Amino acid sequence: MKGSRGWRQWMLALVFPGLIIARPASSSLGATSISYYPQATMAADKALPVLANVDDPSAVDAQDVCPGYKATNVQTTEDGLTADLVLAGEACNAYGIDIPALNLMVEYQADSRLHVQILPSVLTAANASYYTLSPDLVLEGLLEPGSHAHKELSFQWSNEPSFSFNVTRVSNGDVLFSTTGSQLVYENQFLEIVTSLPAEYNLYGLGEVIHSLRLGNNLTRTLWAANAGNTIDINTYGSHPIYMETRYDTAHGENRSHSHGVFLRNAHGQDVLLREEKLTWRALGGSLDLYFFSGPSPVEVIQQYQVVVGLPAMQRYHTLGLHQCRWGYANWSVVQEVIDNYARFNIPLENMWNDIDYMAFYRDFDNDPVRFGYSEGRKLIDSLHANGQYYIPIVDPGIYVPNPFNASDAYEPFTRGNESNAFLSNPDGSLFIGAVWPGYTAFPDWLDSSAREWWAYELQAWHDKLPWDGSWLDMSEAASDCAGSCGSGNLHLQPIITQTGLPGSAGNLVLEYPEEFNLTNATEAAVAASQSASELAAESATATASTSTSTTYVQSTPNVVRDVEYPPYVINNGHGALSEGAIATNATHHDGTLEYDIHNLFGLGEAQTTYFAHLAMEPNRRPFLITRSTFAGSGRYTGHWGGDNNSRWGSMWFAIPQALSFQLFGIPMFGVDTCGFMGNTDEELCNRWMQLSAFFPFYRNHNVLGAIPQEPYNWASVIEATITAQKVRFALLPYLYTLLYQAHATGSPVMRALAWNFPNDPRLADADTQFFLGDAILVIPVLEVGVSTVDGVFPGLVEGTDLYYDWYSQSKVDVPSTWNITISAPLGHIPVYIHGGNVLAVQDYAMTTRAARQTPWSIIVALDINQTAEGYLYLDDGESLVGDTKSVYFTADKSSLSVSVEGDFIDSNGLDTITILGLDSVPDGSVRVDGHIQDANITWNDTNNAAVIGVSLESAFQSSWTITWD
Ligand SMILES: *[C@@H]1O[C@H](CO)[C@@H](O)[C@H](O)[C@H]1NC(C)=O
Ligand SMILES: *[C@@H]1O[C@H](CO)[C@@H](O)[C@H](O)[C@H]1NC(C)=O
Ligand SMILES: *[C@@H]1O[C@H](CO)[C@@H](O)[C@H](O)[C@H]1NC(C)=O
Ligand SMILES: *[C@@H]1O[C@H](CO)[C@@H](O)[C@H](O)[C@H]1NC(C)=O
Repeated sequence: MKGSRGWRQWMLALVFPGLIIARPASSSLGATSISYYPQATMAADKALPVLANVDDPSAVDAQDVCPGYKATNVQTTEDGLTADLVLAGEACNAYGIDIPALNLMVEYQADSRLHVQILPSVLTAANASYYTLSPDLVLEGLLEPGSHAHKELSFQWSNEPSFSFNVTRVSNGDVLFSTTGSQLVYENQFLEIVTSLPAEYNLYGLGEVIHSLRLGNNLTRTLWAANAGNTIDINTYGSHPIYMETRYDTAHGENRSHSHGVFLRNAHGQDVLLREEKLTWRALGGSLDLYFFSGPSPVEVIQQYQVVVGLPAMQRYHTLGLHQCRWGYANWSVVQEVIDNYARFNIPLENMWNDIDYMAFYRDFDNDPVRFGYSEGRKLIDSLHANGQYYIPIVDPGIYVPNPFNASDAYEPFTRGNESNAFLSNPDGSLFIGAVWPGYTAFPDWLDSSAREWWAYELQAWHDKLPWDGSWLDMSEAASDCAGSCGSGNLHLQPIITQTGLPGSAGNLVLEYPEEFNLTNATEAAVAASQSASELAAESATATASTSTSTTYVQSTPNVVRDVEYPPYVINNGHGALSEGAIATNATHHDGTLEYDIHNLFGLGEAQTTYFAHLAMEPNRRPFLITRSTFAGSGRYTGHWGGDNNSRWGSMWFAIPQALSFQLFGIPMFGVDTCGFMGNTDEELCNRWMQLSAFFPFYRNHNVLGAIPQEPYNWASVIEATITAQKVRFALLPYLYTLLYQAHATGSPVMRALAWNFPNDPRLADADTQFFLGDAILVIPVLEVGVSTVDGVFPGLVEGTDLYYDWYSQSKVDVPSTWNITISAPLGHIPVYIHGGNVLAVQDYAMTTRAARQTPWSIIVALDINQTAEGYLYLDDGESLVGDTKSVYFTADKSSLSVSVEGDFIDSNGLDTITILGLDSVPDGSVRVDGHIQDANITWNDTNNAAVIGVSLESAFQSSWTITWD
């Protein structure tokens, strides 16, 4: 039952001085949230209550009643096979009308990729509504040229007792996917396929959900884009129907593993039931469009997946600088003050953001003329730009629909959009009107070119007034605070937001503090506790009053005409009915597509449209987007942030598995609201978190309205911690940028789970409290309150196969006798290590990335146990879509380093030093560059066996060179 989950559905509105607005809430981690005032924005219908199928003890199991199919007319083709599948008995119509005849198409698309597609063979009345996912939105895998003579996946099928199939790994005969013993169910509103899995399987992916990295063997993953914050185990913003499974083989004395991936290219609402030794995949429509990837390493699975859905967009260099945001920056002066404070405390700030505060009445493309006027804003942004800093505002998809009875309520972006027919309709052709921030709102139809052109026009017109540098796409599930077209017939109630006459005030707001705040700040905690006690009492009084009603659930029956509002199968959507808190599922696109079929693609459509709108404005500048709702392939256009998390220690930890999952999903540009969004943060949590996020690609501090300020300069220790971590981040910027380039070029993940870099160690299968950046950097953050040490794992070190060097001291990590090593990590210190075998090109610390990019290079050679190392550096101008590039390859051993340069991009920075870590013997002082004796200054550090060679080269990477030392 939804109500018993202990999290509050919608809701409750936030209080802004003089204004009442509704924002969907998320619960905090297992704690009672007391952050918000219960005030509805507007008269809002609720959807009817539904009981999720997985929670319904009386629900029919389609496997018990459905007949399955028989294959006939099986033809082998050059690249696979085709067959007809016909229903093998009487229709069961379990949660839809059975489709009697299907086409099976099996295609070996590449050595590592198999495509299995099952579609209705003829359109009949019963399946006329079946939806084909357009490759314009979600790419499909194409047959790769070549013979595929070394294919690693093999497809076998059987008709006994009914049609089933296996996908096998050729090299070891392992059955990766097997429907043997289950029935294929294919109905107009329900598809089901079941595969067996090994005991205690290691499965990853299937997001977006807040959970540990390894999913466990007893969970239901639901895919339905929802504005559900960071509630644990509830479907939230994005939908990623891809899993990776890793199988360890310990049978032959030597540990090995093989990983593979399975992608269901289907955008409908889904439940994926992870159960003992099996997985059941259920979808509310669309087709069975399965891709299998053979790996065998986890990184290869991730890369093979992105070959199908698309590689991530290349990021601009400056987006790797620190981002500062909050909800509640009231006007330009406050924004300027934040920028000034960063400068005053010497903390690098690169990108300044605004939440919805800047808008006039929360309307897109329209700044509040008093608080956020254009001429003042332009001055502020010009001055940011002059300093090498940037500005990014929020944009929402809900477009205010003016009150037709009030001429002064005109809103031109709506008028233009409506005239060009840019918005979704109701089934009867009238305008679909939901409710979001500004009041009743219309929503763009991203499938339609008129909407895309209108959106590009509005962004351009607004950009002409305010030269911002990127778009932050919020609410893109798309969230709507009521069920159905709630604004139809209600527009006379607009405008909802007025300056006076609404109850409530910000003064009474009591926000939670992190767990164990009483330990870190006893005095303030005591005050907060007494305030919240009275709020809790009031809340529980309200709660008791409303608990005793018994619920009647809506239950629809299968029909040829689909019920898109309450489909017969009820997915385990955290918000309940499909239309609760989102655009209604019967909202209609111009081409007739219903939102039911593409709800999960709304955020992708918006990101795609915005990406091309940015390009139209600035054709050779890489668009910068951060989006809330994502789907398979969104990485081509956008990054993502783990929105509406909590200022809690648990939330900080969940950021790591979430970030790793988004690497698997092909959206490497990921970060969370650092120091936490919902609730108050505190000094210790913010200190640890500013340091942790410095090692995520997207590094942004963001805060909710009404919480205590949490910019790093609010606490002396957090200033210091942020600067310390940023010093490491700045040194590593060229490396991080190179990793993002490699992600863009090859799909390799930027942040990596330990198990991905060390796939043969089963002990790492669920490790998600530490991570690698690429192969070279290992981060072991402190995730607990009140400690000054952290237990860390150094993969391969105990076995003697790998070396690690402390970033700060450059000393080799001692070979330990145990697996977990206790590392000293007082507040303000984040343990970071260089993995032996890597060469890193680093630059200096500066206040902006622009300044840092003009500093001299240094090279760190971290030798492995064989006294060798290698590295790669990618360079370009950091923002053009097309332009000169440079690749620099490093190869080193104990007495030489070769630098080999390709490409025309000019980087004229010189070289300062080369540091060699892990040398067995002291270099004697003679250094040659390309065979010629070079003046050099060698410092040898006995405690850490590191040699620093001071060599001054005028230009480090304009040509290839080799340096030797003996
Ligand atoms: C699939 O593999 C299972 C397990 O090895 C086997 O029992 C079954 O017969 C296979 N089914 C097909 C269709 O090949
Ligand atoms: C699976 O989870 C459900 C619900 O949390 C629980 O009731 C059940 O006992 C679990 N089953 C197993 C095998 O752990
Ligand atoms: C801090 O608060 C927790 C409950 O939130 C309580 O269990 C604990 O005893 C408190 N500790 C102190 C030292 O007050
Ligand atoms: C906690 O205590 C310190 C010192 O008394 C204070 O400066 C700080 O602002 C307090 N609050 C938080 C949220 O850390």
